[in-house]
Amino acid sequence: MAEVTLLQTRGLTRRFGGLTAVDRVDFTLMQGEIRAIIGPNGAGKSTFVGLLSGRIAPDAGTVLFDGQDITRLPAHRRVRLGIAYTFQITNIYPAMTVRENLAVAAQSRLAHEAEIAAAAQEAAIAVGLEDRLPDRAGALSYGHQRLLEVAMGLALHPKLLILDEPTQGLSDDEIDNFLTVVRRVAQTATVLLIEHNMDVVMALATAITVLDRGRILAEGPPEAIARDPAVQDAYLGRAT
Ligand SMILES: Nc1ncnc2c1ncn2[C@@H]1O[C@H](COP(=O)(O)OP(=O)(O)OP(=O)(O)O)[C@@H](O)[C@H]1O
Ligand SMILES: [Mg+2]
Repeated sequence: MAEVTLLQTRGLTRRFGGLTAVDRVDFTLMQGEIRAIIGPNGAGKSTFVGLLSGRIAPDAGTVLFDGQDITRLPAHRRVRLGIAYTFQITNIYPAMTVRENLAVAAQSRLAHEAEIAAAAQEAAIAVGLEDRLPDRAGALSYGHQRLLEVAMGLALHPKLLILDEPTQGLSDDEIDNFLTVVRRVAQTATVLLIEHNMDVVMALATAITVLDRGRILAEGPPEAIARDPAVQDAYLGRAT
């Protein structure tokens, strides 16, 4: 199978005052990967994917997506090109139904009501929430709210789905279900996953990038990364 580059950054940099949160990062993501980004708290993981999604503007460097320079594109234009992003903090509309939440997402690419309804249904099925479509999103369990968030990303039919700590706060059963969902998603989209739970990372990732103090500390297949002494050092003192 031909290897196709989906996303590439060159020298990507973002400072906050005197702190360089993302420091000259060169990063390449191939189509079809499930890439995990790991690293200690404050390593720059969320800032990095914020730069990819366009929520945060870089101080230097470039982002190429699908062969196009998107460095200066606003977030909503990147969504239309196929970059979907779910936040570290749950970001749904609690007063609206599950169906309405999904319709809002689908509306960004579809105009006809029937198409939007179909897309909402399809996304709900993909995460196993089809029975909850009429329910108020705020009434869902925390785990189901996280799945709804993923489904909202899927309703965009993304080429790239970015998930920032999607399993945070989930029970073991919910995590098992989440693994199934991501594997299903990965059949049609490339997945970039920030994740602290190493069991989840090892179960899902086709490759791992380790960020530490804004720089790529290591990158490679899961087994090699798990054995890497520098990676173990960066994690020393961490609870998880
Ligand atoms: N808006 C901001 N203003 C100032 N500093 C920020 C801002 N956002 C992030 N930072 C700082 O940049 C660094 C990287 O933060 P970031 O949130 O990207 O880390 P992270 O790897 O996602 O951490 P975590 O695992 O805790 O989510 C941290 O030192 C953080 O305090
Ligand atoms: Mg973060």
